[in-house]
Amino acid sequence: MEIRHIDIDYGYCSDRNDLSDEDRLLLVAAEKACTTAYAPYSNFRVGAAVRFDDGEILTSSNQESVAFPSGICAERGLLYFVQANRPQKKIRTLAIVSSPSPTECTPCGACRQVIADTEQRQKTPIRILMGGAQSTIVIESAQALLPFHFTLPATKE
Ligand code: THU
Repeated sequence: MEIRHIDIDYGYCSDRNDLSDEDRLLLVAAEKACTTAYAPYSNFRVGAAVRFDDGEILTSSNQESVAFPSGICAERGLLYFVQANRPQKKIRTLAIVSSPSPTECTPCGACRQVIADTEQRQKTPIRILMGGAQSTIVIESAQALLPFHFTLPATKE
């Protein structure tokens, strides 16, 4: 058997001031969105913000349900809203942050799949900013976040 390797390049920024103004603003928008979270069960608020290639920014947050699995993650809810309401637009960057933010906010597996689906549909890379209190992880394409993501054979290109 041949052993193959996957390498992932990512940026690590220990000081948010080293990011571009655009990226910093998107992280701030995601932070503001944390305040709209409904997270009485986990007490973990997540905010997500997308910047489209025309500069428009949309945000959302995690919403929990008393029937626990019925809740929705911030970034997944936002991407579904985008698909329903801005289907022609391309997302350039997605920022994800949490409150509290002990570490950078990295998306769960289900969200990675949905981010990868979105990237595949729009045919241009989605940059992802995973924000912590000061530090940020930057990844240039959703593909890198979920190698071997699921695709239906009919949708493979
Ligand atoms: N959560 C997100 O919003 N995004 C993720 O990628 C992972 C987790 C939310 C779901 C739940 O409301 C809370 O964080 C704790 O799991």
